[in-house]
Amino acid sequence: MSLQDRIDQAVATVAPRLKTCPRVALILGSGLGGLADAVDAHLSLDYGDIPHFKESDAPGHAGRLVFGELAGQQVVCMQGRLHAYEGNSAEDIVFPLRVMNALGAQTLVVTNAAGAVNTDFEVADLMLITDHINLMGSHPLTLGEDQGLRDFTDMTYAYTAALREQALAAAHACGLTLRQGVYIGVRGPSFETPAEIRAFRVWGADAVGMSTVFEVIAAASLGMDVLGLSFITNMAAGVLDQPISGEEVLEASKVAIENMKALVLGVLAG
Ligand code: HPA
Repeated sequence: MSLQDRIDQAVATVAPRLKTCPRVALILGSGLGGLADAVDAHLSLDYGDIPHFKESDAPGHAGRLVFGELAGQQVVCMQGRLHAYEGNSAEDIVFPLRVMNALGAQTLVVTNAAGAVNTDFEVADLMLITDHINLMGSHPLTLGEDQGLRDFTDMTYAYTAALREQALAAAHACGLTLRQGVYIGVRGPSFETPAEIRAFRVWGADAVGMSTVFEVIAAASLGMDVLGLSFITNMAAGVLDQPISGEEVLEASKVAIENMKALVLGVLAG
């Protein structure tokens, strides 16, 4: 079945149940699923109930699309996302985004947990993503010409300047410090080696994580506006003389979650 047919089937299942069309798609990273609870929801669907959606089994990730109003905007939240380290293909990872776009979302707000490559950063900092480096080892737009998807999407302005300004203004209004920097996406699931982190620093990366890059590439190819935000859960490998544990990353994220929620709500409220 072609990609377009799969999108159409998913849309045909969801669209008749929508009270209003979503304008903003939110993809919520590890620990941030709670933001979806703040949505005044009129529809909530498990991924398993939507044709061609794959289910996530990463810790801290439910698998649900939540439709409703958040800070005065019609949104659709992906509560739980797919990761490459779970064995999902790049195409599968961006499929929900394609469906959210087909349902009306023209803006993507994507959040993630990340390790700090920039040694000036601190745990619990928030970072506005200004650009990314794709080291995921794959790409979401390689389905082939028969699918009408092999484009040469320009990535120069992938992270929309106007939304970045809005995020900086919202952070200022909330009294939050918002770092800015380059996100490097890796496949995982192991954390990086100290040598890799030193190399990433030379390349100009400020934060490292295992998501976001595919979704942003797909959003750019769909002509969507994008805002990317990271919360720093740990200093990346080798910055401190201690190991990194997955539990620690989930735990540390709790500190940044409230700030991230306030920032996202501030951006949506405009
Ligand atoms: N590396 C990769 N992904 C991450 C990290 C990290 O240090 N922290 C949170 N996600």
